[in-house]
Amino acid sequence: MRYLDADTTPKISKIGLGTWQFGSEWGYGDGYAERDAEAIVQRAIDLGVTLFDTAEAYGFGRSERILGRALGERRASVFLATKLFPLLPVAPVVEQRAVASANRMGTRLLDLYQVHQPNPLVRDGTTMRGMRALQTVGLVGEVGVSNYSLDRWRAAERALGGRVLSNQVEYSLVHRQPEDDLLPFAQAEGRVVIAYSPLGQGLLSGKYDRDHRPANRIRAGNPLFLPENLDRAGDLLGVLREVAAAHDVTPAQAALAWVIRHPAVAAIPGASSLGQLESNVAAADVELAADEDAALRSAAGRFQPITGRAAIPKLIRGWRHR
Ligand SMILES: NC(=O)c1ccc[n+]([C@@H]2O[C@H](COP(=O)([O-])OP(=O)(O)OC[C@H]3O[C@@H](n4cnc5c(N)ncnc54)[C@H](OP(=O)(O)O)[C@@H]3O)[C@@H](O)[C@H]2O)c1
Repeated sequence: MRYLDADTTPKISKIGLGTWQFGSEWGYGDGYAERDAEAIVQRAIDLGVTLFDTAEAYGFGRSERILGRALGERRASVFLATKLFPLLPVAPVVEQRAVASANRMGTRLLDLYQVHQPNPLVRDGTTMRGMRALQTVGLVGEVGVSNYSLDRWRAAERALGGRVLSNQVEYSLVHRQPEDDLLPFAQAEGRVVIAYSPLGQGLLSGKYDRDHRPANRIRAGNPLFLPENLDRAGDLLGVLREVAAAHDVTPAQAALAWVIRHPAVAAIPGASSLGQLESNVAAADVELAADEDAALRSAAGRFQPITGRAAIPKLIRGWRHR
């Protein structure tokens, strides 16, 4: 495993574990939640993973409960991150919700407490007042944000009066926007970008095409999995397969290696099995060459999926035919 330079205790692993999958939204079933999830967490710790990410919103607290139980006695050896769902994120609510998350996970410290997304109506002044109070009493170590623009990340720092260590955003070969400003900022200022959906929710594993589409409702709402977009992804997946073959790894591992190439980035892939977790962790040891990076970027640039408004009627049609 490799670790970020950021001065945290413990150090943050470049590959972490995302645990949205521990909620019920991904439809992996009770056996997964009751047995596989714990095995995945234990094995991740064995393999040097320290970054574990959850949120109060995942399965309405279910993911936090499962993760806390799975960590058990080994809680102290990890960097535990959760998120506040910012429905009325005023200071007293922020404080109350942090206590509730900590209780669900059976911990007295949230190493990283993140605002899940910017609230368009409530500015960060009051949210960060709550965060500061939580840091003062020692319930929260580091403050983070998620889905924040650079301007709002900096505004959050000013409101907190200290560093907002991380911004958790979508970052992968199919979503490279963070490169414009978030990554340079993080690198210059010793901050961290936590890359979510680093595998494009499984698209970059190369196992899906128009005849084999994932069935769960999370991905039914993701335009990347529209048949037209799966066709369009063929070129990118072809280049990814070539790069992966040169390193004797899978396309998913090459895709993760690409994401964590940047020194300020840690990725938090989710895993539907123990084997996936092991494979994802092993990606930390894959080092891509500059020409491979260039080939992947160029193929990623050619991938133009149907997104936004144009995708909505197609997604609705897809729902009707499920
Ligand atoms: N802050 C936010 O707003 C936000 C938003 C989204 C996610 N997140 C966080 O980021 C984490 C990861 O993002 P994500 O779950 O959206 O997407 P992801 O990590 O890109 O994709 C995860 C899915 O890809 C497949 N997969 C994983 N490893 C694989 C491997 N080695 N080989 C083949 N397939 C593999 C699995 O699905 P199948 O096996 O079923 O194909 C798995 O459930 C989440 O758990 C959550 O903690 C945060």
